[in-house]
Amino acid sequence: MEREFPHAMLREMWEQPEAIRRTLALYTVESEGSLALNPEYFPGLAHWGNAHGEVLIAASGSSRHSGLFGEILLEDKCGLAVDVEYASEYSLRGGHPNAPQSRDLRNPSVIVLSQSGETSDTLAALREARVRGHRTLAITNVEDSTMAREADFSMPLAAGREKAIPATKSFTCQLTVLALLALYEELSQNRLTFTDQGRMTLTDGLRELLAVPDAIETQLPAWETQMATLAKKYRGAATFLFLGRGIHYAIAREGALKLKEASYIHAEGYPTGELKHGPNALVSEQTPLVVLATVDPSDDGSVLRYEKTVQLLIDMKAQGARVIALANTGDEAVAGLVSDCVFITPAPEHLLPISEVVPLQLFAYFMALEHGVNVDHPRNLAKAVVERGV
Ligand code: G6P
Repeated sequence: MEREFPHAMLREMWEQPEAIRRTLALYTVESEGSLALNPEYFPGLAHWGNAHGEVLIAASGSSRHSGLFGEILLEDKCGLAVDVEYASEYSLRGGHPNAPQSRDLRNPSVIVLSQSGETSDTLAALREARVRGHRTLAITNVEDSTMAREADFSMPLAAGREKAIPATKSFTCQLTVLALLALYEELSQNRLTFTDQGRMTLTDGLRELLAVPDAIETQLPAWETQMATLAKKYRGAATFLFLGRGIHYAIAREGALKLKEASYIHAEGYPTGELKHGPNALVSEQTPLVVLATVDPSDDGSVLRYEKTVQLLIDMKAQGARVIALANTGDEAVAGLVSDCVFITPAPEHLLPISEVVPLQLFAYFMALEHGVNVDHPRNLAKAVVERGV
């Protein structure tokens, strides 16, 4: 019998494996027994990037956190130079009116990320980018949204309609499309597409991506049970500090935003190394930490960041901090250092975030229930902010 969900947010979290699979299906085709990128979407993109590999990402809210993920991904895997802007800032920034040429010493290709494709600030950023003559790509969940129509290129998500105000399935689908974009970029830069090596890179990359929805699906039931328990245990906390390094910083920011939006509990996301530069003064019984401590053992950079995070966990244990960690399944070293450990199936470094965010979404959901919040419609928030703010 099909499960009845009490809230759209819970249903949408559970829909994530299917939503990611649908999104992957949109961009891939079977070719000679293996998967390939769907030519319908990708040739146009060949003209999107600029010669200097400069990219600017403008977005708001959760979509901006996808942008932070995209920044590290496109820089580390593809060698692009990426800036991420708050859409509300980018759209209102200009150079001195008497020196219009100073507005743009660079000519980046611009990505706007938006679930709705209608957020006023992000739409204004897109229009500003077009006025500046940049090539634009819109990644939205609504194929015929204003942004999708106005941008030079559009890469829709196939998350399906998202009703709950806190974004969940659209977020993981945004990460998926950015991972596909990075794969495409990697191939086209190396002119690998039609060579044997290209096929191999592509097949490996797509196989790794396809494993993500399966891993999420397998872990969802245990995460749901554990997060319901942890929400009860931590319900009295006043503030949470979410910490992540590298690409996981994006998830620390998103985990904190989800908690604020859904449960009205104060939370902030920081790069892990910044804890000791101020925020540590807040750490107490009332202010626990949520630390992203997963690792890709085949990636030297990931291992280095992990080792530094383990050292921080040792210090936090000595300090008596309450810590919830997210770690690779079976990582007893991390589990032994923290109050609670949430396990994540190992994956390549740049794909771990797609899984990691799911238990954090569930944590926000159960915290909302603990605090009696109407999680699908938190106060003062809108699904899409379509009036320009002041
Ligand atoms: C609102 C929503 C957020 C969302 C943000 C950006 O603030 O409540 O959940 O992340 O808008 O929306 P967009 O549709 O542009 O992704």
